[in-house]
Amino acid sequence: MSSRRYITTPIYYVNDVPHIGHAYTSLAADTLARFHRLCGRPCRFLTGTDEHGLKIEQAAAKTGITPQAHADRFSAPFRKLWDHLDVRYDDFIRTTEPRHKRVVQDIWRRMVESGDVYVDKYEGWYSVGDEAYIDEEDIVDGKNKHSGHAVSWVEEPSYFFRLSKYAPRLLAYFEDHPEFIQPASRRNEILRFVEQGLRDISISRTTFSWGIPVPDEAGHVIYVWVDALTNYISALGGPEGALFSEFWGEGAEVTHLIGKDILRFHAVYWPAFLMSAGLPLPTRVFAHGWWTHDGEKMSKTLGNVVDPWAIVAAYGADAFRYFLLREVPFGSDGDFSEAALRGRINGELGNGYGNLLNRTAGMIARYRGGVVPPRGEAGVEDEPLLAEFKAARAALLEEMEALSFHKALAAIFGLVSAGNKYVDSAAPWALHKAGRDARLDEVLYHLAECLRILGVWTLPFLPNKAAALLDQLVIPQDLRDFASTEVWGAPLSGITLKAATPLFPRVEAPEEVAPQQPKQLKQAKQPKQPKQPKQPKQPPQQATPPQTIDYAQFMAVQIVAARVVEAEPHPNADRLLKLTVDAGEGRTRTVCAGIAAAFTPDKVKGRMVALVANLAPRVIRGVESEGMILALGEGADLKLVGVDEGVAPGARVQ
Ligand code: MSP
Repeated sequence: MSSRRYITTPIYYVNDVPHIGHAYTSLAADTLARFHRLCGRPCRFLTGTDEHGLKIEQAAAKTGITPQAHADRFSAPFRKLWDHLDVRYDDFIRTTEPRHKRVVQDIWRRMVESGDVYVDKYEGWYSVGDEAYIDEEDIVDGKNKHSGHAVSWVEEPSYFFRLSKYAPRLLAYFEDHPEFIQPASRRNEILRFVEQGLRDISISRTTFSWGIPVPDEAGHVIYVWVDALTNYISALGGPEGALFSEFWGEGAEVTHLIGKDILRFHAVYWPAFLMSAGLPLPTRVFAHGWWTHDGEKMSKTLGNVVDPWAIVAAYGADAFRYFLLREVPFGSDGDFSEAALRGRINGELGNGYGNLLNRTAGMIARYRGGVVPPRGEAGVEDEPLLAEFKAARAALLEEMEALSFHKALAAIFGLVSAGNKYVDSAAPWALHKAGRDARLDEVLYHLAECLRILGVWTLPFLPNKAAALLDQLVIPQDLRDFASTEVWGAPLSGITLKAATPLFPRVEAPEEVAPQQPKQLKQAKQPKQPKQPKQPKQPPQQATPPQTIDYAQFMAVQIVAARVVEAEPHPNADRLLKLTVDAGEGRTRTVCAGIAAAFTPDKVKGRMVALVANLAPRVIRGVESEGMILALGEGADLKLVGVDEGVAPGARVQ
């Protein structure tokens, strides 16, 4: 496998301010680029803005400024947001730059020389919103049925590209390079499309002027997609550029990250243009899914577009990045909700990762004066942790190659879980009490090493938090690259840790911070009041009609799959069982459940249950309960709401 990586995002239209959809690709690309850099691989990361075309010309006309002034105004916020989100690109291309125009005209000439460009007349539908020619069968009520953008009839002289000629070559290429279009479901879509045969496409426009002129032909501007796609090589200085020979073609791996809506341009048009221009093709085009917001499609009219600035202000850039990459597989659609984001911050980030740091730093401070001890006496209890480390490392490498960010994170957080379990089973407090100093040294060393490795591995995903963790552990720079995590056992002994500050402080939903909240909690903890005389019950028909709730309200309740790993009678209440449940957070929770009349502890142990995970914790008869398991019925007839086997703890009901 080649080692020089070139990673690109789409170049974003300057008709809009950046939103979550733009941020998603840029954050994914940044994470990937950071991962390659961490592994010491030469890597170049390109992003930029798409500034030509009728859409931009019209947007500028609306505000009464020149298209160039408009492009300048709307390109800047993208850079600003990338800075804010710690997106570290190597180059930012703007299609109005001379370095880009020159290469677009060069590509045009190459296509002409290949005999693939001819002049004719275009008669058909065009969607300005999509900057695309739309087939009759894709139009419903005057709109592109896929995007909802309006279409209009266009008749004008135009240059055409002989796309039809390339269908067989494209199919042969797809066959020989199954990795070219990903994920596989998208590949099949494109295969079916090309198999039907391709029509030549119009590649110049004459009815407006905001574009790159067709060489030697007054009155025609180059179609904006020919212009835009060429950014990937104009930013390398074009086919003759030094960067081109380094990052394109032989010896380089080129990955275009895009959204699913623009796959056809990247997987059919772009390779055909490159074939015609006699240039090598990119290695793969990966089409990710789309985000909805609280279950609804985002739109300016609905006013529900997720603004990355607001999310980062409320939750921080790292948590936002983590959520986007962890919540759904990269190729699938996903739903963004603040409640779900908070769940992840308080769950695997706070209770899992942050907690492991706090516990470890706390115990090293308490038992060893804050200094990482030398390795001491090995024990069999260390083996599961070391085995998890090896498995996680292999999985991380493999999943990052596959762009399976969510699985890469699952592998890392598997080690977080193992670290927390290790604390529980090695019980350093008991070793300290028993005076087993050599064993305690070993355990504390392993925990420090586990955190260092986690810190290094999470640098691409949580760049600020991971660096803060490594700083707290005072890890030297040469122990912060991927190679230093190849084997377990870095020289950490003797390092004096800095005082730990929580990495992921708990976040509450705005309504949970309402002033009446502490009072309600207090009431819940108070002993039962003597019975009041009963109020007559309202007959059911007079009850208020059931209210409907919207999806956002439903999603505010986090119901997740959890496994009951332990069950015992509650020490102070016959009605209750005290359950220890695993909700996939890298630690277990205690939940008090009023199910003792129907279940003995051995009947629930091992079962998968549905857990309300974000219920405020409550002390019930002296035991703190963190959540509620769902059940139906009463007394001996009570039944648990079940979850099918095969579902991982932590999977969310939605
Ligand atoms: N300018 C073209 C790309 C040219 S690349 C040679 C373009 N720009 S865009 O600004 O309209 O869209 C950029 C990206 O944002 C696309 O990949 C699109 O899929 C993505 N998204 C827009 N809305 C989105 C969501 N709601 N969710 C995820 N991604 C979405 O297209």
